[in-house]
Amino acid sequence: MSQSAPAILVRDLHKSYGDHEAVAGVDFEVAAGEIFGLLGPNGAGKTTTVEILEGYRKRSGGIVSVLGFDPEQRPRALRERTGIVLQSCGLYRHIRVREAVAHWAGLYPHPRDVDEVLEITGLAERPNEPARSLSGGQRRRLDLALALIGDPDLIFLDEPTTGFDPAARREAWTTIRQLQELGKTVLLTTHYLDEAQALCDRVAIIKEGRILTEGPPATLSASAGRYRVAWRDEAGKLQEREEEDPTALLHQLTSAALARGAGIEEISVTRPSLEDIYLELTSDPVDEAV
Ligand SMILES: Nc1ncnc2c1ncn2[C@@H]1O[C@H](COP(=O)(O)OP(=O)(O)O)[C@@H](O)[C@H]1O
Ligand SMILES: [Mg+2]
Repeated sequence: MSQSAPAILVRDLHKSYGDHEAVAGVDFEVAAGEIFGLLGPNGAGKTTTVEILEGYRKRSGGIVSVLGFDPEQRPRALRERTGIVLQSCGLYRHIRVREAVAHWAGLYPHPRDVDEVLEITGLAERPNEPARSLSGGQRRRLDLALALIGDPDLIFLDEPTTGFDPAARREAWTTIRQLQELGKTVLLTTHYLDEAQALCDRVAIIKEGRILTEGPPATLSASAGRYRVAWRDEAGKLQEREEEDPTALLHQLTSAALARGAGIEEISVTRPSLEDIYLELTSDPVDEAV
């Protein structure tokens, strides 16, 4: 694949279950080497979208290209180049950790080294642990090891850290960043804002089957184009104003304070965070919007 071709291209994707439209016209692209996040509340259509890209579900309409293939045809060449972590998976309860990874390795033409993958995913210390006695976080690492063993170019991670304690989440983030350092493209879904902020080059916020906004987490926050100015006024009351350009307000506040010969208490100028944007977008009724 050439550098400029997107790893994933989605145009006007639709998916209905009966008369419920779970994905209602979604467009996005993921560049090779990028970590892209589908961010949205439960039921938004994240898993449906990802499973269509993985070739596990049939779309109702639209165009999908994954590494240049249509996943619906389940081409072998595509399966060999993608690694998948499903939202929930319990296929290998009775197998031991190293055994599972070695077995999976046998399914691919050019697998990575088994011990190296156990190392990357933090499983090297207990290779003989039966999968069923792993904790939730360790089981997710095994999922990740199985997704990695075929040395795929593209990795799908559906809610990779749901149910993790904070320390396990941090470790998983480190592993996912390592995937990017290995040159992989990653599409992940999450409903954690901090996860999207920490990991993703770009995110799309999705709700009720539609993308509400898209971009790098930092510009997404800034693109709201507003500053929040907060301060304690001379009566000791907390004030807060939102301004597109805070220059005039700041000038007014500082010159009034100087004229009084006093300082301004607790003044701050902030941009809305990714969390502010997310809550604002996803808590509105979506019908009239976009
Ligand atoms: N196999 C299915 N049959 C019927 N409805 C489904 C099926 N899978 C998902 N849905 C519905 O489609 C919507 C999107 O679900 P999903 O893609 O799982 O969302 P998310 O992963 O964002 O939580 C939800 O309303 C869900 O109930
Ligand atoms: Mg889901």
